[in-house]
Amino acid sequence: MRDNSIVPSHIAIIMDGNGRWARKRLLPNAAGHKKGAAALELAIEGCAKRGVKYLTVYALSTENLKRPRDEVDSLMGLFMESLQNKVSDLKKNGIRLRFIGDRSFLNQAIQDVMSDAEKSTINCSTLTVIVAICYGARAEITRAVQNISAKVLGGDIEISNITANTIEENLYTFDIPDPDMLIRPGGEKRISNYLLWQCAYTELIFTDTLWPDFNEDDLNDALEEYKKRERRYGKLTSQ
Ligand code: FPP
Repeated sequence: MRDNSIVPSHIAIIMDGNGRWARKRLLPNAAGHKKGAAALELAIEGCAKRGVKYLTVYALSTENLKRPRDEVDSLMGLFMESLQNKVSDLKKNGIRLRFIGDRSFLNQAIQDVMSDAEKSTINCSTLTVIVAICYGARAEITRAVQNISAKVLGGDIEISNITANTIEENLYTFDIPDPDMLIRPGGEKRISNYLLWQCAYTELIFTDTLWPDFNEDDLNDALEEYKKRERRYGKLTSQ
């Protein structure tokens, strides 16, 4: 069952390498994040052009929140500025924005801009961009377990009726198909607490390109590599 479909429907990206990109140029990490935000714009355009339906990007993990205060503040500022400046263009291009993660870590002003962005792009259907912010997969799964436990205690669900679907329905991504391909630039070969449940059968692609340098050629390379993969989902090739 070689999956030669031209493009994956859902691409997930770990935007890694911003810090190294900046340090190589003797710049503060914030400069790398800024260039990283520009690379994200390119990736959004590239995915929309190729018919990808979902793009999920790791903008900030719960662990990243422990970085020095000025770096976290500058990331938040960049995030806010990008949303304020780009949402109308994204909307014009049919891009829907969604956010996953624990918003309670964010200040009210950012939370408001996020919900406005989600509301104003809700009818866009070319590409959905899901931004993982203050996100951690273990925390997401823990939250799902808490929700399901509350339903058991409330008598809404029997323990024997809990299935993998029940867990999926309680994740932030309840209505989003699993990623077909996960790209991690920046040279590291790990998943870093990103979409652990959702990536059970995802094709993993690692590249040494630092995220701020990630361009159309890198996206094409990843898509070419994806085409060569045989997705068996645990079955035999002949099945
Ligand atoms: C990891 O690089 C990247 C981050 C912690 C932040 C990613 C954020 C952006 C690309 C900003 C754009 C996002 C939005 C939604 C506007 P790193 O600093 O860990 O790199 P290093 O491994 O080289 O130190």
